[in-house]
Amino acid sequence: MRKHDEIPDRLVEGNPDVGSFSNCNVCHEGAAKGDFDEDRAIIPGYGRWDD
Ligand code: HEC
Repeated sequence: MRKHDEIPDRLVEGNPDVGSFSNCNVCHEGAAKGDFDEDRAIIPGYGRWDD
Protein backbone atom coordinates (compact mmCIF):
# COMPACT_ATOMS: atom_id res chain seq x y z
CA MET A 1 0.00 0.00 0.00
CA ARG A 2 1.42 3.39 -1.03
CA LYS A 3 -0.23 5.09 1.94
CA HIS A 4 1.74 8.18 2.91
CA ASP A 5 4.48 8.06 0.25
CA GLU A 6 3.17 11.07 -1.63
CA ILE A 7 2.69 13.40 1.33
CA PRO A 8 5.53 15.95 1.64
CA ASP A 9 7.31 16.29 5.02
CA ARG A 10 6.48 19.99 5.25
CA LEU A 11 2.81 19.03 5.67
CA VAL A 12 3.65 16.65 8.51
CA GLU A 13 6.87 17.21 10.55
CA GLY A 14 6.99 20.79 9.18
CA ASN A 15 3.36 21.44 10.09
CA PRO A 16 2.78 22.63 13.70
CA ASP A 17 -0.81 21.36 13.51
CA VAL A 18 0.33 17.81 12.71
CA GLY A 19 3.87 17.18 14.03
CA SER A 20 4.13 13.50 13.18
CA PHE A 21 2.47 10.73 11.25
CA SER A 22 1.78 9.00 14.58
CA ASN A 23 -1.02 11.51 15.23
CA CYS A 24 -3.37 9.57 12.95
CA ASN A 25 -6.54 11.25 14.19
CA VAL A 26 -5.32 14.73 13.18
CA CYS A 27 -5.80 13.90 9.50
CA HIS A 28 -8.11 10.88 9.77
CA GLU A 29 -11.14 12.07 11.71
CA GLY A 30 -12.49 8.52 11.77
CA ALA A 31 -9.24 7.02 13.14
CA ALA A 32 -10.85 6.03 16.46
CA LYS A 33 -13.36 3.93 14.52
CA GLY A 34 -10.70 2.47 12.25
CA ASP A 35 -11.71 4.62 9.29
CA PHE A 36 -8.63 5.63 7.29
CA ASP A 37 -10.30 6.08 3.92
CA GLU A 38 -8.09 8.42 1.89
CA ASP A 39 -11.17 10.20 0.55
CA ARG A 40 -11.87 11.46 4.08
CA ALA A 41 -8.30 12.41 5.01
CA ILE A 42 -7.78 16.10 5.73
CA ILE A 43 -4.38 17.69 6.40
CA PRO A 44 -4.62 20.75 8.70
CA GLY A 45 -3.52 23.92 6.89
CA TYR A 46 -3.71 22.13 3.56
CA GLY A 47 -7.16 20.62 3.26
CA ARG A 48 -8.49 17.51 1.66
CA TRP A 49 -5.85 15.37 0.00
CA ASP A 50 -6.73 14.77 -3.63
CA ASP A 51 -4.46 12.83 -5.95
C1 HEC B 1 -0.56 14.41 7.83
C2 HEC B 1 -1.88 13.79 7.89
C3 HEC B 1 -1.94 12.28 8.16
C4 HEC B 1 -1.55 11.60 9.29
C5 HEC B 1 -0.97 12.19 10.57
C6 HEC B 1 -1.83 10.20 9.03
N1 HEC B 1 -2.36 10.05 7.79
FE1 HEC B 1 -2.91 8.32 6.89
N2 HEC B 1 -3.30 9.30 5.15
C7 HEC B 1 -3.25 10.67 4.99
C8 HEC B 1 -3.58 11.00 3.62
C9 HEC B 1 -3.64 12.41 3.04
C10 HEC B 1 -3.81 9.77 2.97
C11 HEC B 1 -4.12 9.57 1.49
C12 HEC B 1 -2.77 9.36 0.79
C13 HEC B 1 -2.85 9.34 -0.71
O1 HEC B 1 -3.94 9.23 -1.26
O2 HEC B 1 -1.78 9.46 -1.35
C14 HEC B 1 -3.64 8.72 3.96
C15 HEC B 1 -3.82 7.37 3.72
C16 HEC B 1 -3.82 6.40 4.71
C17 HEC B 1 -4.20 5.02 4.49
C18 HEC B 1 -4.65 4.42 3.16
C19 HEC B 1 -6.16 4.60 3.06
C20 HEC B 1 -6.72 4.19 1.72
O3 HEC B 1 -7.93 4.46 1.51
O4 HEC B 1 -6.00 3.65 0.90
C21 HEC B 1 -4.10 4.39 5.70
C22 HEC B 1 -4.40 2.92 6.00
C23 HEC B 1 -3.65 5.38 6.66
N3 HEC B 1 -3.50 6.58 6.03
C24 HEC B 1 -3.44 5.11 7.99
C25 HEC B 1 -2.86 6.01 8.89
C26 HEC B 1 -2.45 5.66 10.24
C27 HEC B 1 -2.61 4.29 10.87
C28 HEC B 1 -1.91 6.79 10.79
C29 HEC B 1 -1.25 6.95 12.17
C30 HEC B 1 -0.16 6.04 12.47
C31 HEC B 1 -2.01 7.86 9.77
N4 HEC B 1 -2.59 7.33 8.64
C32 HEC B 1 -1.60 9.17 9.96
C33 HEC B 1 -2.94 11.59 5.96
C34 HEC B 1 -2.44 11.30 7.22
